[in-house]
Amino acid sequence: MAIAFEKQVCLLTGASGGIGEAIAKQLASLGVSLILTGRNTSKLGKLVEVLPGQHTVVCADLTQTDDMEKVVALCRDKSVTMLINNAGITETGSFISAPQGAVDSVIETNLIVPITLTQKLIPILLRAPDARIVNVGSTFGSIGFACHSLYCASKFGLRGWTESLMREYAGTNLHFHYFAPRATQTSINSAQATSMNQALGNAMDTPSDVAQALVDMLYKKQSRRFLGFPEKLFVKINGAFPSLVDAALKKQLPTIKRYMKSRQEEKLS
Ligand SMILES: NC(=O)c1ccc[n+]([C@@H]2O[C@H](COP(=O)([O-])OP(=O)(O)OC[C@H]3O[C@@H](n4cnc5c(N)ncnc54)[C@H](OP(=O)(O)O)[C@@H]3O)[C@@H](O)[C@H]2O)c1
Repeated sequence: MAIAFEKQVCLLTGASGGIGEAIAKQLASLGVSLILTGRNTSKLGKLVEVLPGQHTVVCADLTQTDDMEKVVALCRDKSVTMLINNAGITETGSFISAPQGAVDSVIETNLIVPITLTQKLIPILLRAPDARIVNVGSTFGSIGFACHSLYCASKFGLRGWTESLMREYAGTNLHFHYFAPRATQTSINSAQATSMNQALGNAMDTPSDVAQALVDMLYKKQSRRFLGFPEKLFVKINGAFPSLVDAALKKQLPTIKRYMKSRQEEKLS
């Protein structure tokens, strides 16, 4: 049965970011009623002004318990039917020089927040006839990429946790989706990351292409969607023959290290 978008009430985290804003625009145009959350009030305010339909904005730092509870209470009031765990951060550079606090902030934002929010919302979502949870992962949730170790740890965790819940809730009205973009043109990528992608010949998608793919995944009720070629082929090869990818990425290592300096290394250089 096709998804009835106009009956969906969706909590979208990271709505103030590049991919979040594009997802909001696509879903609003399909008649979804949105609860938009992020930390940047002014960006959220500007976004809601241009969206068709009636939506709610809630400014929240989801790593803060009180803010998370405020969002959950609103979802209860609005009888939410869809959750898109999209908020995320990154930290690049050599593992050993990661700044203090980076381990906690990346794992908390990208993994613990989606886990906690999902646990709190499942009882509400189970009341809907067709409920969906989309977890926005990454190609780097399947391929360990040098100088992105904390981000990879969080996204590998997100993928495994999603797969487990997908199987735990099989046959119920609650469907889980794991959605993995490749590099995308948003501000999560520093200028150095963009230069690295150019030097390595890695394409970067537009946020609107990514949002369109997410909507298509929802339509088709696909459990998993990996974006981009050759990235999605590498995901498969890495799963079956990781030593082939080890060898290919070893050749890229000097280029990756040239661009992916930690904040501390940048200051020293
Ligand atoms: N861009 C890429 O290359 C790429 C590739 C693969 C996967 N992804 C994934 O796509 C998702 C969206 O990323 P993006 O590219 O759109 O990045 P972005 O433009 O930097 O947006 C990130 C969003 O996450 C929100 N956020 C971060 N920490 C938060 C916190 N503690 N509490 C609440 N919200 C928080 C930000 O809110 P504020 O702006 O209000 O602070 C912002 O709305 C992420 O999960 C990312 O890992 C991105």
